[in-house]
Amino acid sequence: MANKNAQKLPIFAPQFINMARYLTGIQSSGIPHLGNILGAIEPAIQFSEDPKNESIFFIADYHSLTTIKSAEERIYNVRSVAATWLAFGFDYEKNILFRQSDVKEVLELTWILSCFTPFPMLANAHSFKDKSDKLSDVNAGLFTYPVLMAADILLYDTQLVPVGKDQVQHIEIASDIARAFNFTYKTDALVLPEAAVRPEAMTIPGTDGAKMSKSYGNFIDIYLEEKALRKVIMSIKTDSTPLEEPKNTERDTTFTLYSLLATKEETEHLKSLYEKGNFGYGTAKQMLFEKILERFGPAREKYAALMADPQKLDSILAIGAAKASKIASSVLQRVKPLTGF
Ligand code: TRP
Repeated sequence: MANKNAQKLPIFAPQFINMARYLTGIQSSGIPHLGNILGAIEPAIQFSEDPKNESIFFIADYHSLTTIKSAEERIYNVRSVAATWLAFGFDYEKNILFRQSDVKEVLELTWILSCFTPFPMLANAHSFKDKSDKLSDVNAGLFTYPVLMAADILLYDTQLVPVGKDQVQHIEIASDIARAFNFTYKTDALVLPEAAVRPEAMTIPGTDGAKMSKSYGNFIDIYLEEKALRKVIMSIKTDSTPLEEPKNTERDTTFTLYSLLATKEETEHLKSLYEKGNFGYGTAKQMLFEKILERFGPAREKYAALMADPQKLDSILAIGAAKASKIASSVLQRVKPLTGF
């Protein structure tokens, strides 16, 4: 848990004070699953507990409009992402947690930045290139996605953006746009951000053994009610080693997931059971199921309580929006006069 005695960090342009400002955005395209939680959310929360850092975390709901059109789905996903961060202990009082669309300045900055963004830079962005074989399916929002992302980053004087490898190019684009702007006006009004690339964490396997991902449909939703959750765990793919024979832990998904959640001793114990034989995958899965309930019991409860209280969630997000808006308007006040607005 965060240190409640940590002093409140002032909101200044970070080059003036001795701390680092980190910004993390998550697109609200679904309910966070076990892979997101172990791979990104828990490490980011741990990091935010360092009193030397100021963490800004936001839910990129404008970005999600490039693909998701349903209002209900977007509202639900935003709540689900916010509730997850809070359920896992993100300290929204020390840090900032907000919804992208609550700070309208981001759209103003997006337009200004887009006029400093060369067309080929966007045409080369993976987010667009990967989909460019069917241009009729590409909306302009998807094409300019990196500019909105640059505005997310530059609007808050962000120094470091923790990302996975797939997002590094987007951070470079943000930095290039900032450099082009600063060069044009002979200024350092925009802080140049850098990517803090997360070390390739161990890949978290999904129920079919491939990387856990929403798009592969192999994810584990830890918030499911117990019966449904157990069913998902029982559906994990295994090899067909007969019950009596010793089993290999190395490529076994159940074992891998268990080892990510259990203590070293518990993991060693399960390993010995696998190697002894006369131990079935069904029992291992039951152990994994119980471990998930044990490890995530408190988070499951907090999540359910928050999801049942949208007003509370909204009021927490409003606190973050007020803090974020304060930084955003001071940055825009630096940028707009330079451009004659
Ligand atoms: N594009 C990021 C992703 O899909 C989400 C995102 C939007 C983001 N704006 C950001 C991440 C700003 C970091 C900083 O993961």
